[in-house]
Amino acid sequence: GFGPLSGRSIVLIGLMGAGKSTIGRRLAERLMLGFVDADAEIERAAGCSISDVFRLYGEQAFREGERRVIRRLLDGPPCVLATGGGAFMNAETRALIRERATSVWLRCPLPMLVRRVAGRSHRPLLNDARPKEVLERLMTERHPIYAEADVIVQCGDDNVDNGTSRVIEALA
Ligand code: S3P
Repeated sequence: GFGPLSGRSIVLIGLMGAGKSTIGRRLAERLMLGFVDADAEIERAAGCSISDVFRLYGEQAFREGERRVIRRLLDGPPCVLATGGGAFMNAETRALIRERATSVWLRCPLPMLVRRVAGRSHRPLLNDARPKEVLERLMTERHPIYAEADVIVQCGDDNVDNGTSRVIEALA
């Protein structure tokens, strides 16, 4: 299987609000692996927030930085890596993830995503439009690509332990 004994990193993908960071942190604890949040690493490398990277340098520069950061992390010891929702959409980043890691898509229904991103201002893609419309469009664009993940886990509820258990079962 794809399990932790495979020695590969586990990369969580999915839309904003899918729970990649929350489940990722718990998953890492339970598998006794390190946890890394790609967005946080990008902010550290850039020395500013993701919103600032988008504003100052544009989305394309962000995607470049994202790819470099993910490459560096996947060169290191196996870990659980939560990626930003667009990472797997970049062909080079996707190839890298597919080559070096086990990818897990946290697939959530739209209303759940909309509820979870409500009122959060740190996501540049949700800044100036209605979250539901943006997420709906991203769902149409991204789901066919996310479906290339090694493992697909359907999100059921907001319980982090349940979600984490479902990921572990799916990896087995
Ligand atoms: C993005 C998702 C964000 C962050 C950036 C772009 C996307 O991460 O990388 O705002 O393109 O879906 P989260 O999925 O963790 O919110």
